[in-house]
Parts: sequence; structure tokens; C-alpha cells
Amino acid sequence: MSMLIFQIPEEMQAWALAQRAAGLRIGLVPTMGYLHAGHLSLIDAAKKRSDVVAVSIFVNPVQFGPNEDFAKYPRDEARDLALCREAGAAAVLLPPVAAMYAPDASVYVTEERLGNGLCGARRPGHFRGVCTVVAKLFNIALPHVAVFGQKDYQQAAVIRRMVRDLNFPLEVVVAPIVREADGLALSSRNVYLVGDERARALGLSRALQVASEAVAAGPCAAGEVRGRMAEVLERHALKVDYVEIVDAETLEPAAAAARGHVALIAVYCGRTRLIDNRVL
Ligand code: PAJ
Repeated sequence: MSMLIFQIPEEMQAWALAQRAAGLRIGLVPTMGYLHAGHLSLIDAAKKRSDVVAVSIFVNPVQFGPNEDFAKYPRDEARDLALCREAGAAAVLLPPVAAMYAPDASVYVTEERLGNGLCGARRPGHFRGVCTVVAKLFNIALPHVAVFGQKDYQQAAVIRRMVRDLNFPLEVVVAPIVREADGLALSSRNVYLVGDERARALGLSRALQVASEAVAAGPCAAGEVRGRMAEVLERHALKVDYVEIVDAETLEPAAAAARGHVALIAVYCGRTRLIDNRVL
């Protein structure tokens, strides 16, 4: 079956309504493109839980801050479409910005608790942009199930909350982080890493490993574990944006580092901001 490519949201919506009328289950994988094996694992997870998979490829300007990398975010539509086709997607949404946002758009979705700390504190307006575009994609692709990656732990928590609190009639699935053999979490932004930055970026997964080992040896003070993580990051010449240990559900900072809590890291590796996390 050939893969459909939509640039106009209303056309994908008509397709989605037809799939539903035919009794088919729709799986949605929202992405910003420049696809890698992490994205493809989400398409796989969606395929297992649905009859037809829709993938969206849209670099969403509303979730980027004024000094962030929207303009230079990596793009390769031809390659992305080939990967979607190979992965067995039934339809791809690839809309121009003007098709997603009217010039006088004035409705946005804000989550007011889980998105306040961590990346939300460092990237004001980021989760407002994410919630708004994901709510729009849900209304366009009308999925029964939507798949997100644990790579963006806070994003997944915020979206789950939005789905619950706004009664979206769909299931949210969060798939595990796909890593390179040496531990680096796959990210479209890894393409920015130059020179020794690729090697230094290993500091994130190594710091998470140190946290995990500390907790395996018994509960300890969160401050102590965060200190050890920060040491690993500094040894890799990474500039810490945040190092936190939080409750897996509320994302509130934990006093003790214990099993089931989540360690999250954001750093600058040169000019590139990288994030990673691990459930302890
Ligand atoms: P993007 O960064 O392209 O990521 C799309 C999806 O892929 C997200 O759910 C993300 O968590 C997941 N992902 C990224 N790297 C991964 C990895 N190494 N392993 C597993 N999953 C991974 O996240 C966004 O786009 C946007 O914010 C979006 C949700 C599309 C809204 O614009």
C-alpha cells in the first residue's frame, strides 16, 4: 500500500475520519523530522497498537524560544519520507507553518503544573507550544493511540496530563529511549555535535549510570547523588543547565534518591543543548 503525504491538515483529517468509518484504529507519532532510530521505534510501537500509523513531521515554531534553534533545526524531508515509507507508515502530515497557524491564531493550550520546572523553567513557553501543537495534531489525525518517547520525559508527562484534563479520547503510550551503542541517546540535535563534543556528550548517560548505581546500593540523599552526577558532567566539560531527581509522577524534586524516582539532565555541549533521563 502506498503512503499518503498530506500538506493540508483538513485533508489528513478527512483521511482519518474515513479510517475511523472503516473501523480502523489510528496510531499517531508526532515528530519534528530529521528522523532517527528513536523515532522509528515509536512508529514500530504505534504499528503494534493500531491498524494504520500516521506520522507528523512539523518543526513547530511556537515551541522554540526567540534565541533557540528554530531556523537552523535540521531538516531532510526526502529522507524522512523514505524512512516513514520503509517503516510502514500509512500517512504523513508535512504541513507548512501557514497551514498550521493562522496569522491571527489566538488559542493556545497551557499545562500549569508539570511543565513549570526542569525544561519548562529554562525554556519559557516551550510546553505551551508543545501542548498547542500536539492538541492540534490530535484533532487532525484523530488517533486512538499516540506514541511519544521517554527521551522527553517531562514532555510525555505534560501530554498525558493534557489528555486527561482535556478528555482527549485516546491512549498515550511512552516508548523507551533508543541509544547509540556507547550510551548516547539518539537526538536530531546530535548532528550539531562537532569535534570532541560527540565524545563529551557521553557524560549525560554516564552521569545517569552513576545515579542508578548509587541508588542500587541503597537510598541516599538526592543532593549527594546530584553532586556526583554534576562531577561526571563537569569532567566531560559539559555546562550544566539542570541536574534533578524527581518524583516520577509529580515531577517534584525528591529529597532522597530512591528506586522509581527519575534523574533528569540538561546540559550544553558547546552550543548544543542536550537532555537525557533515566528511571532509577
Ligand atoms: P522530536 O524531538 O522530533 O521527537 C519526536 C518524538 O520522538 C518524541 O516523542 C520524542 O520523545 C521521541 N524521541 C526522540 N528521541 C528519542 C530516542 N532517542 N528514543 C526514543 N524516542 C525518542 O518531541 C518533539 O519532536 C516535539 O516536541 C513534538 C512532540 C513533535 C511536538 O512538536
